Amino acid sequence: MIYPIVKYGQEVLDRPAAPVTVFDAELEKLVADMFDTMYAAHGVGLAAPQIGIAKSLCVIDISSNEKPSDRIVLANPVVTAAEGKQTDEEGCLSLPNFRASTVRPMKATVRGLDVTGKEISLEGEGLLARAFCHEIDHLNGILFINHLSMLKRDSIRRKVKKMVKAGEW
Ligand code: NI
Repeated sequence: MIYPIVKYGQEVLDRPAAPVTVFDAELEKLVADMFDTMYAAHGVGLAAPQIGIAKSLCVIDISSNEKPSDRIVLANPVVTAAEGKQTDEEGCLSLPNFRASTVRPMKATVRGLDVTGKEISLEGEGLLARAFCHEIDHLNGILFINHLSMLKRDSIRRKVKKMVKAGEW
């Protein structure tokens, strides 16, 4: 099933998600649906709050469905180490058509649980480190625009407001 993606402005994107506590067939189905939804939207990461589910769960695939081994599922993830700095354009499926230069760590190590509830620790560099940080931010109620200057963030906010008014958001 492909879910509609929740856009910026919805409250579910602004609050911390609840930990996943049950690892069952229902969670597996949700994860499969999240991958389908992410691929349909041409994203490289998707967090459960983005489909309106306030659970600490995200999926990532920086290969955009080219390499099955690149599929990552993280429940209750945290960043345990970060190193270096990278600056690159970043976007978000919840803020379609907005991209902005965003600073992230060059390397990030994350710890969480896989879809079966087993503890995993993963290291990412470059785009993967960026995806880890972006998705884990979502699970803490933070969007990439929170990392921008106030000026840049307000400019995006104003544009979204206009689009909401025009019924285009
Ligand atoms: Ni996002």
